Amino acid sequence: MKPVRKVVFPVAGLGTRFLPATKAMPKEMLPVVDKPLIQYAVEEAAAAGVTDMIFITGRYKRSIEDHFDKSPELESDLAAKGKTELLDLVHSITPAGVNFIYIRQPEPLGLGHAVLCARPVVGDEPFGVILADDLIYSTGRTALGQLIDARAAMKGGSVLAVQDVPHDQTNKYGIVDVDNEMLPTSCVRGIVEKPAPESAPSDLAVIGRYVLEPEIFDALEHVERGVGGEIQLTDAIAALLPQGKTFAHRFEGRRFDCGSKQGFLTATAHYARLAGYDI
Ligand code: UTP
Repeated sequence: MKPVRKVVFPVAGLGTRFLPATKAMPKEMLPVVDKPLIQYAVEEAAAAGVTDMIFITGRYKRSIEDHFDKSPELESDLAAKGKTELLDLVHSITPAGVNFIYIRQPEPLGLGHAVLCARPVVGDEPFGVILADDLIYSTGRTALGQLIDARAAMKGGSVLAVQDVPHDQTNKYGIVDVDNEMLPTSCVRGIVEKPAPESAPSDLAVIGRYVLEPEIFDALEHVERGVGGEIQLTDAIAALLPQGKTFAHRFEGRRFDCGSKQGFLTATAHYARLAGYDI
């Protein structure tokens, strides 16, 4: 079984729910306390043993590339002033042995299209996908690490991170139908995008972490485009379900929907208290 060495970070969305903040700045650079969302995501992937960080970027996303690049003026200024703690902090943003790769998505044609843009770099290997606006706080193994472990336990296959959501909120998520809801990892029988509560097959929602087998790329090439010409990742996952090698894993950790203002503010309060701030 090939190991998971690469993670795709789709960051080319328009982030309209955060306007005006995201007019000229990527949503993924919004800081929770003092760290941008995308840095939490990269740290999660690095802790899971991933070495290749592949960003799918678009216009106005330059600051993400700059964030993970050297900053010679800043670094020499901190060194000259003897601010070694801050210098170490800046160096720690790009862990040793990790590659940062950027691919441009020319138009925001959907999450599925963004993942498909990674095909030339991912090749014929399993890979992770992290949506940085789903921030997951865990005290043990990171959420992505838990998916990688679940894949190993199932002896390969794709694994989707899932979590129970309130029944009246199924229309905000991709919802899965699984073989056995009682198990932490179970085979996915069906997946529906944003079903009304009365037609939802369960309350198990897909959260922004995936480990995918490379077969997903062929499926993405063939899915029908939906509204606005968007290619949906959910449709491609659904096309692979008959093979019986797609699993849902209930991860441990607290997830914050930082794509919404409410979720972002709740995350900020949570991380601020952890850092000792009195709010
Ligand atoms: P969202 O559905 O959250 O869309 O995308 P968005 O544009 O980022 O935000 P809103 O809804 O307008 O506020 C889910 C993830 O997929 C990426 C986004 O960057 C986000 O991480 N994405 C989406 C792309 O990379 N490309 C796309 O074409 C669409």
